[in-house]
Amino acid sequence: MTEQPQNLPVHIGFIMDGNGRWATEQGLPRSAGHKKGAEVVRTVLEHAKKRGIKVVTLFAFSAENWKRPKSEVDTLIKLFRQYMDEDIRELQKQKVRVTFIGDREKFPADMSARMTEIERETAAYTDFHVVLALSYGARDDLIAAIKKIASDILDRKYLISGIDETKVRDALSTHDLPYPDLIIRTSGEQRISNFLLWEMAYAELYFTPIYWPDFNEHDLDDAIDAYSRRNRRFGKL
Ligand code: FPP
Repeated sequence: MTEQPQNLPVHIGFIMDGNGRWATEQGLPRSAGHKKGAEVVRTVLEHAKKRGIKVVTLFAFSAENWKRPKSEVDTLIKLFRQYMDEDIRELQKQKVRVTFIGDREKFPADMSARMTEIERETAAYTDFHVVLALSYGARDDLIAAIKKIASDILDRKYLISGIDETKVRDALSTHDLPYPDLIIRTSGEQRISNFLLWEMAYAELYFTPIYWPDFNEHDLDDAIDAYSRRNRRFGKL
C-alpha cells in the first residue's frame, strides 16, 4: 500500500475551508455552502479513487467547531447524518473502507453507533480508504496517546526509554493509516488548524485560494501534479 507510481501521494488530507465565504459571496445562507461542500466531497472522493490515491482524510468538523452557533452545528450534523445514510452506503457498495477519527461520543448516540457499524462493515476493504475527521483535534489525539503510553508504562509493558516514534504512532487514532503525503487546504488560509499535527511532519502542504464548494477534479489534479514535481527529502540531501 506504500508503493505509488509516478510519484503519486498515497494519502491526501483535506482541510475543506471556505464554505461560509462561498455562500455569503453568492448571497446565500452559510448552510448552502456546507450543502454544496458535501457535493464536492462526493466528486473529490470519486476522482481521488480514480487517480489511484489510497487514503483520503477529510477534516469535516473540528473539536472547536462545536463553538459555532447552534443552528450551524445542527445543519452540519444533519448533513453528516444524511451523508452516512446515503453517500456512505454508496461507498460501501463500491467496497470503500470508511473509518472515523475524533470524539464520536459528542454526536447523538445513534450516529456514533452508526460510525462504529460502518467501520465494522467496511473493515475488509483495502483498495481505497476514506477517513472522516469529526469532532477531531490533533492535540486531543496526542493527549489521548500520551495518556495511553503513560498507562502502558505504569502497567510495566515497557520502560520510559522504550518510548519511540512507533509507540507514539501506535497510540494515535491514525495508527492504521500511512502518514499523509499531501495536505490540501482550500480558501486561501495558510494554516493547519490542529489537523494531523504529528502525522504531517513531512507532508507536502498545498494551499489554494479556491473555496471548497468550487474545488473540482481539475483542482485536485493540479494539487497532485504540484506534489509530483516536488522533491521530498525527509531531512536528507
Ligand atoms: C469550513 O468552512 C468547513 C466546515 C467547518 C465544514 C466542512 C463540511 C463540509 C465540507 C460539508 C459536509 C462534509 C461531509 C463529509 C458530508 P467554513 O464554514 O469555515 O467556511 P468559512 O471559513 O468561509 O466561514
